[in-house]
Amino acid sequence: MADAADAILVCAADAVLEGGRGVRFPVSAGGEDGTGFVVRYGGRVFGYLNRCAHVPIELDWAEGEFFESSGLYLMCSTHGAIYVPESGFCAGGPCKGGRLRPIAVEEREQNIYWQPDDYVRPVRA
Ligand code: FES
Repeated sequence: MADAADAILVCAADAVLEGGRGVRFPVSAGGEDGTGFVVRYGGRVFGYLNRCAHVPIELDWAEGEFFESSGLYLMCSTHGAIYVPESGFCAGGPCKGGRLRPIAVEEREQNIYWQPDDYVRPVRA
């Protein structure tokens, strides 16, 4: 298990507002370039790989737009799959039985950090 020293800065904590725009960050997922994102819901931050469980493409139709209009669910812009913000589980639409791939994120000293794991790694320079 990696320790906190491996955590990577995403952004300032106040850049991610409750039910508002998410912040994307570059990752390498299973060796492929991709993005992760962080959103705030219920006062806590949640991170996921930006890859729909229906077709493996990015969710946001405009950069950082992950919540649907009610602000209760994350939504894929392509075919409207919706996901529970706290767990990433599919709550409706074509992602049935699927789930967003979580990325560990942490809010600390007014910043948000993400934590690489065995699958989601930092992008190499
Ligand atoms: S690609 Fe996300 S709902 Fe189809």
